[in-house]
Amino acid sequence: MTATIVDGKSIAQDIRNEIKAEVDALNAKHSKVPGLAAIIVGERKDSQTYVRLKHKAAEECGFVSFNVELPEAIAQEDLEAKVRELNENPDCHGIIVQLPLPSHIDEKKILDTINPEKDADALHPINIGRLHCKGDTPLFLPCTPAGVIEMLKRSGVTIAGKRAVVLGRSNIVGAPVATLLMKENATVTIVHSATPKDMLVELVGSADIVIAAMGSPGFVQGEWIKKGAAVIDVGTTPVDDATKKAGYRLAGDVCFNEAKERAAYLSPVPGGVGPMTIAMLLKNTLQGFKKNVGEI
Ligand code: GUN
Repeated sequence: MTATIVDGKSIAQDIRNEIKAEVDALNAKHSKVPGLAAIIVGERKDSQTYVRLKHKAAEECGFVSFNVELPEAIAQEDLEAKVRELNENPDCHGIIVQLPLPSHIDEKKILDTINPEKDADALHPINIGRLHCKGDTPLFLPCTPAGVIEMLKRSGVTIAGKRAVVLGRSNIVGAPVATLLMKENATVTIVHSATPKDMLVELVGSADIVIAAMGSPGFVQGEWIKKGAAVIDVGTTPVDDATKKAGYRLAGDVCFNEAKERAAYLSPVPGGVGPMTIAMLLKNTLQGFKKNVGEI
């Protein structure tokens, strides 16, 4: 068996085209477009790349984008004040604070400061809480987890009734993707860094759907995968690579070449989950805008 490659780049482009069409229609009706603000603190090259891609995608969809670049040494109160300023800005419907923040900043307090109705990353505790409430539908879903679900659905993978294993328990991916899979009626197990290795291998081998989100390059071996499983690789760890212009490449959590001989569906890195995260961020900002103009 050779897996069908789950082309996140192409699925993300479809979503962005759908968003653009909706933005054009809403602009014709309201003479207003969605606004996305991204706050970036410091000079991290990877964060700068992600934020640049987010702005470019936003502008291509007809959004206004606000770029807020702040110095590494910014004080906690000044960063909170910047977030509050965007909370008050009527042209801004989605706010993201690119993570990680410098170590002197209390990240949790910053995320708590974002207006939950503009929380396009869905990292405010109100949105996280609503996500985990049975029967609740939060205004925003966390971008990477929602992107993973969209990739499965748009590839025709059945989630309901299936056994899913999530590797990783982070707030940003592992825990929320497990909840979303459960809300789609999968039976879900989370394995993590404290799961005994033999148990982990056995559980991965029993899964119809595997979501790898450990941030550990090549951790998931092809031979662990059940034949016919759907495997989504969320790992994007920069590893040194002298053959690349940037001097590094992004490495996934799954041994791609081995896994593609066993899986029925497999997402690549890069070109898998990464573009989907951006598409879902735009979708969330559009949601915030629609709420703001009374469309939902
Ligand atoms: N850093 C890595 N991933 C993300 C993300 O999805 N959102 C934000 N704000 N920061 C990140």
